[in-house]
Amino acid sequence: WAQDATVTVKTTEGEHVINRNIYGHFAEHLGRCIYDGIYVGDDSTIPNTDGVRNDIIDALVELKVPVLRWPGGCFADTYHWMDGIGDPAKRPSIVNQWWGGSVEDNSFGTHDFLNLCERIGAEPYLAGNVGSGQVKELADWVQYVNHPGGSPMSGLRIENGQKEPWNVKYWGVGNEMWGCGGNMAPEFYANLYRQYSTFMTDWTNSDGLYRIASGANGADYQWTEVLMRDIPKPLIEGVALHSYSVIDWGKKGPAKNFGEELYFKTMKAALFMEELVTKHIAIMDKYDPEGRVDLIVDEWGGWYDSKESETMGVLYQQNTMRDAMIAGATLNIFNNHADRIKMANLAQIVNVLQAVILTNEEKLILTPTYHVMKMYNVHQDAVLLPLELETSDYEFQGEKLPAVSASASKDESGAIHISLVNIDAKESQTVILNLDGTDNKKMTGEILASDKLEDYNDFDEADKISPKKFSGFKGKNGEYKVTLPPFSVVVLELK
Ligand code: AHR
Repeated sequence: WAQDATVTVKTTEGEHVINRNIYGHFAEHLGRCIYDGIYVGDDSTIPNTDGVRNDIIDALVELKVPVLRWPGGCFADTYHWMDGIGDPAKRPSIVNQWWGGSVEDNSFGTHDFLNLCERIGAEPYLAGNVGSGQVKELADWVQYVNHPGGSPMSGLRIENGQKEPWNVKYWGVGNEMWGCGGNMAPEFYANLYRQYSTFMTDWTNSDGLYRIASGANGADYQWTEVLMRDIPKPLIEGVALHSYSVIDWGKKGPAKNFGEELYFKTMKAALFMEELVTKHIAIMDKYDPEGRVDLIVDEWGGWYDSKESETMGVLYQQNTMRDAMIAGATLNIFNNHADRIKMANLAQIVNVLQAVILTNEEKLILTPTYHVMKMYNVHQDAVLLPLELETSDYEFQGEKLPAVSASASKDESGAIHISLVNIDAKESQTVILNLDGTDNKKMTGEILASDKLEDYNDFDEADKISPKKFSGFKGKNGEYKVTLPPFSVVVLELK
């Protein structure tokens, strides 16, 4: 068989589980993510449960969102959780200083968020305020949501109608402390982190807190170096990393009608994630060879200069097949580093940046990114299968990127899933797939593809792009030829 790529999956090996939290999401008080997005209020004509849109709840249940980060982002370091509890009529308002200066009435607070997580079956990940908050404030938040009863903060929670604690495990200790979180030097933040994390008690009713240090800005390896060096292991469970697929922060380019040159540059930025995580992990290995601290990529995705954000909310952007390519390729990278990456959170879940859901009044669309994440959710908690990949390049104006990326896993039932992405804008790729030891298993598949790279789902054409049955493969007994159309994502199942 003539071939452009070869993928050899070691179907009988595999040591590491792909933590389901790699498929995590992020919801910030920003633009129309929370207000007029997830939350429309219980007096809205849009069907809702306690103010949260029912169609969003349904879509997120279907997506199998494992973990949801809130309330920011930069907003987290301005947020005072006590303003968002108790009688909504008595809550003070807050100015969203980072995102458009909008005034919020705090009607969506801790109870609303944690109840939403329960409804969609996601673990909450609360980002604490270190930048403009206090140690006591964060310690009290932990006590409020986790103490079983008989303490000042659990008493207040019970007064506010919630008897049982929520047992929140995941806690961020500040966000982007090198920037909007306080413009700190890593040495200063490492000390602050030690102080804050010391007073975050697990209250013995949960299986321990999981504290995440605010991580590096992309390739700032020194940040990770200092945190890993200066924070003693009993105080830290995860260290974060933020990296967006941005061409140029000064000129990010449009979300729609971008053309192949900007597409190529975006994919180059997205694939840089492989180098980033490899280098950050190498630093972590140096200070933590036992692998006790995890890498948490708690903000990632595409970020453009979107015209629509002027009318549709701050950082609103359309989501095209380019975003599907970012999602598929990046998730393959995260899967393949499942030994150290234990959580990732796509920015952001509704109406902001690389959203999986966009809303416009009562209308809702599931974006191409939603579909990729749903196709890939078969990897959640499955055992990563090592693979060898050889691929031809996607070439544009003399520059090259690897055209095909892949990851594979075996789930509890023994079913094998292989996710394949062809980022080439023009050429299809013929992949020879070797799956030794899988004789007599049957292959099926799903594909996400479209006629044009710039295609997207719109409010008047919500299902233009959706996964279809894939039959572009032939072969048997462990050797297959798979044809991936240009800019497509395919997930194969063998069982
Ligand atoms: O996701 C948007 C913003 O990007 C977040 O608030 C911040 O953490 C990052 O810079």
